Amino acid sequence: MPAAAPRRILVTSALPYANGHIHLGHLVEYIQTDVFVRFQKLRGHRVIYLCADDTHGTAIMIRARAEGRSEQDLVAAMREAHLADFAGFQVAFDHYGSTDSPTNRRRCGDVWRALRDRGLIVSRQVRQLYDPEAGVFLADRFVKGTCPKCGAADQYGDSCEQCGATYAPADLVCPASTLSGATPELRSAEHLFVTIESLHDFLASWTSASGAVDPRIANYLAGHFLGEPLRDWDVSRPAPYFGFEIPDAPGHFWYVWFDAPIGYLAATDEWCAVHGGRLEDWWGRDEAGCPRAEIHHFIGKDIVYFHTLFWPAMLESARLALPTKVRIHGFLTVDGQKMSKSRGTFIMARTYLDHLDPAMLRYYYAAKLSGGIDDLDLNLEEFAAKVNADVVGKVANLASRTARWLEATGLSADYPDDGGLFAAAAADGDAIATAYEACDYARAMRLIMQAADRANAYVDAEQPWKLAKAGPAAAARLQEVASVALNLFRQLAVYLAPVMPGLAEQAGNLVGGPIRSWDEAGRPLAGVPVGRFTPLAQRVDRGQVDAMLAASRPPDSPPSATAGGLKMEPTPQSPADPTGPLAAEPLAAECTIDDFTKVDLRVARIVTAEEVPEARKLLKLNVSLGGDVRRTVFAGIKGFHEPATLVGRLVVVVANLAPRQMKFGLSEGMVVAASGAGVEGVFLLAPDAGALPGMRLR
Ligand code: 2FM
Ligand code: ZN
Repeated sequence: MPAAAPRRILVTSALPYANGHIHLGHLVEYIQTDVFVRFQKLRGHRVIYLCADDTHGTAIMIRARAEGRSEQDLVAAMREAHLADFAGFQVAFDHYGSTDSPTNRRRCGDVWRALRDRGLIVSRQVRQLYDPEAGVFLADRFVKGTCPKCGAADQYGDSCEQCGATYAPADLVCPASTLSGATPELRSAEHLFVTIESLHDFLASWTSASGAVDPRIANYLAGHFLGEPLRDWDVSRPAPYFGFEIPDAPGHFWYVWFDAPIGYLAATDEWCAVHGGRLEDWWGRDEAGCPRAEIHHFIGKDIVYFHTLFWPAMLESARLALPTKVRIHGFLTVDGQKMSKSRGTFIMARTYLDHLDPAMLRYYYAAKLSGGIDDLDLNLEEFAAKVNADVVGKVANLASRTARWLEATGLSADYPDDGGLFAAAAADGDAIATAYEACDYARAMRLIMQAADRANAYVDAEQPWKLAKAGPAAAARLQEVASVALNLFRQLAVYLAPVMPGLAEQAGNLVGGPIRSWDEAGRPLAGVPVGRFTPLAQRVDRGQVDAMLAASRPPDSPPSATAGGLKMEPTPQSPADPTGPLAAEPLAAECTIDDFTKVDLRVARIVTAEEVPEARKLLKLNVSLGGDVRRTVFAGIKGFHEPATLVGRLVVVVANLAPRQMKFGLSEGMVVAASGAGVEGVFLLAPDAGALPGMRLR
């Protein structure tokens, strides 16, 4: 069924703080949003996906101070790292801004003027906590103490994780500075406030009746906040503070939570500056007061208050469009527990990428996300089992056991009779689309895997491998059976494209060209060539998961017998009777340390990676050895690694190998990888987190 009339949809993920790296908890949101965006684009809608680094606040200021560098320097370095992590997980923003930009400063000024014009800004003295040892007023997150509302201990100064209450840090019982441990002093300073209570009726009606907020959340807001007068919102901080100075209040800076959501507007401006149009096309209201576009914010449940009360209040005051939907998700747990550094389950995006295929995490998260606010548990044992069963066993396998028979002939000239299989999966398209639309990706994945099961049952029943053995007499039937299987595979790839864009790209390369539209799942292909089959997905093995956990553990933590719920198998090893790779490829003759040191092995970062179309095995890599030292290397890893997923990762290169002129260009080194007889795959070596380009291996 064709997609509905094109919609204009602006989508955001929460802006990550610039004072830390992206971890698997963050990725629950970014992957979820990216899937939604890719789905909408595949349906033919006009979509822009915007995000930015959230740069301001005391945390950055303190960290920059501690590291002896400027805030701008820190922000720039973190931006690069964030972008590399997002690219590694195929999270594709249409624009990624920074709340420290001139555009954002201007937009903050506009919203501020609107609030002033409506008489919503007041000023009064605030007694704020001050750390006498660190010499700064303490931001909310730098004070901990007991929640004044429910009495929970060890709560931050702005809100309570137990009961969700928000309050001023000075309201905490028994506060302590997290910077120095000192007991903070109360000092008086002037602050500026938004009198949000004057928008109380508007907020009560918008949260409960607009459809933008899940009814359970609306009830929570009504019960916790809207049942009493809303407290004035403190939106300024006195110097020293890393942020924008308020133009009409010198010496005062906008609080980070004032300028952060305005970063959504600034990112829109910046996108428009490149692609055309104006902010009003996305955030404006038409003559009837209706929004000109849909606005979808994806956020975690910890920042609901800001996005459902403060942010709509700011938008309403500035006469901008209100969010169509605030899509709220839960937190990530690993093996049923909070992520933990000592258990090795506080897994950074980069560490995951060093060990595992990002597509597998995207699929696993999708299979567990149902659009609600429940926490998502990454159960590592289930993760390996599920992605191996579904992605490798059901989807990739469908192509791997049928595509090669079509390399010479291409697909049958007419789509063969498949007993209604293709049509049945095409008829599922609407239900799958409805599930994606509702962010119930778990349901979408279930429907897709049911179609995959039916397709595999067809191949099992038709036994094409027997037809292949039967020779020319069965050649026509073999082509028909393989054509059905490959069409069913491509149909699955269309449905999975929002979740697994790499797989969709590979499917397109194999047969039928790039997948551009959801409607392609409704039309089987016939009479088109079939490309050479290359492996689509590698099984996840426990060793990779264990290695990732080990790399995520602090260096001094003791090794444990179990890691994240996975039992570590004792390695079967007997020097007298080698098995596995050692049996297939015995150890080389002894060499001296001098022999070894002649080979200069260095850590390098892959800067660019591209296909060499004419070469069967090669990818062209440009690697950095630190500073400006770059090398071009042709690596025989095509088919095993998607170029886009390589960019940003660390590898090991032989840096002093004599340059070699190849047919496709000069190769100036070699990337080190492992391979073994009987095992499909070329496994790149990856150093532990913390290694830097240029470091020597010894
Ligand atoms: O909670 C956070 O990580 C914030 N940096 C999110 C900001 S989202 C938006 F409002 F800017
Ligand atoms: Zn509380």
